[in-house]
Amino acid sequence: MSLSYRKATENDWELVRDLEKEAASVSPRFFLAYESEKEIKDYLQKDQVFLVMEDEQPVGTVAFNTKGQELAHIDGLAIVPSCTGKGYGTEAMRWVMDQIQNIKKAELVVHPQNSVALRIYLKVGFKIIGWKDNYFGDGEPRLELVKKEG
Ligand SMILES: CC(C)(COP(=O)(O)OP(=O)(O)OC[C@H]1O[C@@H](n2cnc3c(N)ncnc32)[C@H](O)[C@@H]1OP(=O)(O)O)[C@@H](O)C(=O)NCCC(=O)NCCS
Repeated sequence: MSLSYRKATENDWELVRDLEKEAASVSPRFFLAYESEKEIKDYLQKDQVFLVMEDEQPVGTVAFNTKGQELAHIDGLAIVPSCTGKGYGTEAMRWVMDQIQNIKKAELVVHPQNSVALRIYLKVGFKIIGWKDNYFGDGEPRLELVKKEG
């Protein structure tokens, strides 16, 4: 497997939108993709968003933001449907965990029925700590997961 990662810039906003929309199209209840230019540019400023590249081709995104050395929040993991089931989601998540390895705590949320994503997060060491109804205001619940350093 030859994945690499490239930091997305503002100029990549349409590419990020298209990759995340395509990934979300399979399970729109599980993953809320940003639609508008403003939303995506805000996301690119707030988060470190990376393009997941298979050879020279973008096949997905990963995103996280950090608060100093204390906390990392994982905001996104998306692989386009034509490339899923090949271990890329797991590989990309392991890469994210490497990037944030010195940060004390990592957190994320996932839809309880998103078993493929949940499986990846548990595999890299996250633990389920809670359940929030209507987390994003979309009427759907989310599980809260945390991974502590060490
Ligand atoms: C979730 C997502 C990133 C997974 O990407 P992926 O590249 O398919 O992930 P992997 O290939 O590493 O698969 C992870 C595991 O799920 C299994 N799996 C993958 N697709 C599957 C499917 N359709 N049905 C059942 N199992 C599946 C894999 O076999 C693997 O199992 P293993 O741990 O036993 O090896 C991708 O499906 C996606 O982008 N979904 C939409 C966006 C989303 O929901 N993101 C997460 C938001 S919190």
